[in-house]
Amino acid sequence: MRQSTYRRIQISGVFIILSMSSLMIYWNSYQLTRQTTEISIKICPKNPPFLVGPFVFHHFNGTLEDLNNKYQKYKPELGGKFKPLECKPREKVAIIIPYRERQRHLMDFLSHMPPMLLRQQVEFTIFVIEQDPLGQFNRALMTNVGYLEALKQDNYSCFIFHDVDMYPINDNNIYKCSTSPRHLAAAVEKWKFGLPYPDYYGGVVAYPKTVMEKTNGFSNLYFGWGGEDDDLGFRLAVVGLKCVRPAAVYGRYATPVHGKDKGCPLNPDRFTLVKNAKSRIWYDGLNSVVYTVSKIEKKKIYTHMHITVDRQKQEESPGGSVSKTAGVSVTRQQVRFATLLFSQGYF
Ligand code: BGC
Repeated sequence: MRQSTYRRIQISGVFIILSMSSLMIYWNSYQLTRQTTEISIKICPKNPPFLVGPFVFHHFNGTLEDLNNKYQKYKPELGGKFKPLECKPREKVAIIIPYRERQRHLMDFLSHMPPMLLRQQVEFTIFVIEQDPLGQFNRALMTNVGYLEALKQDNYSCFIFHDVDMYPINDNNIYKCSTSPRHLAAAVEKWKFGLPYPDYYGGVVAYPKTVMEKTNGFSNLYFGWGGEDDDLGFRLAVVGLKCVRPAAVYGRYATPVHGKDKGCPLNPDRFTLVKNAKSRIWYDGLNSVVYTVSKIEKKKIYTHMHITVDRQKQEESPGGSVSKTAGVSVTRQQVRFATLLFSQGYF
């Protein structure tokens, strides 16, 4: 055989081998992509595999920009929608924080929560619902607004109403909803890792959308400090529901000490309001909340809404008038009628 023919055969051989190996590489990577896609579309397991159990709360001294950079690897969508990258979550969770002038706590919250929630494989968005500075703070009204406004952003099915200064310290306390409302703050540091009384429902509660609809949300009439979380217990009782709690060993919360809030003095009317909580449920809540959204800021890792409240208008709404007649009992028809009149601007 001539030398040049031999050389040609040699070159073709090398070419065939090279083509075959690239084909094999291509095939293997195709298989790998297929497997990864199959894994990523799997529903997340009921028991998340990456939990660490108890973990420590640390104050955060950095900036929002530091957190934006830190969480970039999780690829949150604008407005702070986080999803686990390895599986398809079971529900969409909106974390609603009624808020006013708590910048340091908010930074601690934003630094503490996302890593835990991603270990729990939760799909979540944090909504900070800030009441504008004028007038007294109304925490429950802010939670109603957070619920209504979050639903305008996406079809969330689970809502976690969260104080900004309470930090979970055991990731077995999973941020998910069940058919019953859940009170997640079962053992709170400021009460020596207990609760102030058995029917305390403050701090952190998880409601599925269905429960918000059943209870007409929360009362809008608690301006100032106290009572709104006690009211919630009575609303649940009216619709035959009760909060369930995680075991105290899991539902643990760190609560760093802080001074009194401005614009949130003790509410002198809280006892009267709690006393007639049951009678107001159909008038006073999601169907009667009065507010204006002055600004929505979609930040990289959370959504910040600015809300203006008009106390006088709120107290003139149907729920406000009923609160003045403690113990009054109303039928659902009366409620529908009142709601209709309210929506037409008669109150
Ligand atoms: C208030 C609640 C508060 C609880 C614990 C009660 O007297 O009505 O709103 O969460 O004390 O501080």
